[in-house]
Amino acid sequence: MKAKFKNPRAKHDFQGRSCSITGVGSYVPEKILTNADLEKMVETSDEWITSRTGIKERHIAAKDEFTSDMAAKAAQRAMKMAGVSAEQIDLVIVATITPDMPFPSTACLVQQKIGARRAAAFDLEAACSGFIYGIEIAQQFIMSRTYDTALVVGAEKLSSIVDWTDRNTCVLFGDGAGAAILQHRENSNGLLTVVMGADSNKAGLLSMPGGGSACPATPESVASGLHFLRMDGKETFKNAVNAMVSAANDAMRRCDIDITKIKCVIPHQANQRIIDAVGERLKATPEQLFVNLHKYGNTSAASVAIALDEAVAAKKIQRGDLVLLVVFGAGLTWGAAVIEW
Ligand code: ACO
Repeated sequence: MKAKFKNPRAKHDFQGRSCSITGVGSYVPEKILTNADLEKMVETSDEWITSRTGIKERHIAAKDEFTSDMAAKAAQRAMKMAGVSAEQIDLVIVATITPDMPFPSTACLVQQKIGARRAAAFDLEAACSGFIYGIEIAQQFIMSRTYDTALVVGAEKLSSIVDWTDRNTCVLFGDGAGAAILQHRENSNGLLTVVMGADSNKAGLLSMPGGGSACPATPESVASGLHFLRMDGKETFKNAVNAMVSAANDAMRRCDIDITKIKCVIPHQANQRIIDAVGERLKATPEQLFVNLHKYGNTSAASVAIALDEAVAAKKIQRGDLVLLVVFGAGLTWGAAVIEW
């Protein structure tokens, strides 16, 4: 009997295949805002910011430079490293909480800017955890042989949602983008495991209440500051440490390894004290921990992606090394990934 339809997957044996990161790239805007600059804007000091956070400076996008512009630049660098043309890209995922606009998605704008005409494109929103969520989603498409080449970008223009009169938050954040190309690579295990989690009971700790369907923009919402990022710093701090340690341990347990097998730990770059507490509880040495927070502040979804690119460029990670990424963000969300580089 003639089949009623053609199953396009039937030609495959449905055996999963591994998924590797074959290229990384990052971009940060030219303008640097130092702690000394902030001293002139709010009642703060370099001493307070440095001792409480570890941040010395952050990059701020130009008025006419948007999340999609930064994402496209980072993407082009990752494509170059992977030796991938725009035509080859099957899927574009952009993780961001600062899209150029609510719709169309920033991923669609990036698709256009890099010329990835064949690619499907969508945004994902998991705040600072977005890049890890993104590589896990992309991995599923590569493993299942649905797609061969995926682009995952974490990109943020957080300067556009920061209240520059609020010293509690404005010193913490910066703009930038980091990107990765994911493909199957022969003889490599690639992404060994990715842990993702969320706890919506803590949704109120970090949020931007205005601008969505619950609170559309009105003169009142703007006047009340509802379109700015809000954060309960102390509670966020505690939750960040617990969630990151538990996600990292889960990921290593799944791979049956301990921290001594990891060459480089790349934590979300939010606060040096969070990184130190996580490192201590994981028993990671200072040599294992990659930190670039002092230069960029917290760039949310872009944070570990930029750090991964810099760690590779600095040759802290060589082919075959095991890398542990671990993140935490609004939602609350968290995630960890063990990658054979
Ligand atoms: N300069 C000077 N003083 C300040 C500043 C500043 N920039 N900001 C706050 N203070 C003051 C506060 O007003 C407070 O003063 P008070 O005691 O008179 O009330 C004092 O400093 C201490 O404030 P704390 O909240 O106790 O400071 P803490 O040591 O907790 O550090 C910080 C605050 C840096 C925000 C920290 O709690 C933190 O990093 N939290 C985690 C943030 C985070 O990781 N976010 C990640 C997710 S982001 C995302 O998903 C988009």
